[in-house]
Amino acid sequence: MKSTVLNVLLTCVVLSACSQPKVFNDRQVGDGCEDCELMFAGIPSTIISWKTKLAADNEPGEPLIISGTIFKNDGKTPASDVILYVYQTDNTGRYTPAPNQVHAKRHGHLRGWIKTDEQGKYEFRTIRPAAYPNRNDPQHIHPIIKEPGLSYYWIDDFVFEDDPLLTDQLKKKFDERGGSGVIKLKKNEKKAWIGKRDIILGLNIPNY
Ligand SMILES: [Fe+2]
Repeated sequence: MKSTVLNVLLTCVVLSACSQPKVFNDRQVGDGCEDCELMFAGIPSTIISWKTKLAADNEPGEPLIISGTIFKNDGKTPASDVILYVYQTDNTGRYTPAPNQVHAKRHGHLRGWIKTDEQGKYEFRTIRPAAYPNRNDPQHIHPIIKEPGLSYYWIDDFVFEDDPLLTDQLKKKFDERGGSGVIKLKKNEKKAWIGKRDIILGLNIPNY
């Protein structure tokens, strides 16, 4: 309980730096979000850009660039000032914290934040995550959304159409929160995987 209060306080301090001071008045949406408060652990106090890089240049793995537009609930109007937090496994399929990592060790070191611009755009550069070792879960990247005035909520993971672990049976089970997270990847001239996903705020989110 103590840590929850502390997290909320930290969130307020941190988010006021991100022009979102009304955390205590945020309307609760979604239906629970395990470990999601970790999105605020270590969040930069400076302005977050619509572009970010999760992986250093020497991170082992295949480069991956994901971009898209975040739309309001009408599916048409670009949504600005939305924070998208993402975290993922490394290329061994583990959430490995960096040796000096203090915050959110459970989320590993491949994590980062984007704040959409006026066109609702976002982009993050990373490496393609590996699937968990000895399990059948597909490769995935976890996204959490924080809109001004609303509590944070999770949306469907980013997953990849060409992943053999992403079966049709599994795809049918997705709620498509925020829209489908299934991405078609192709390689660019620099041999990086490129993928696009647009996100619709509140879509299939309970209590939105
Ligand atoms: Fe995961």
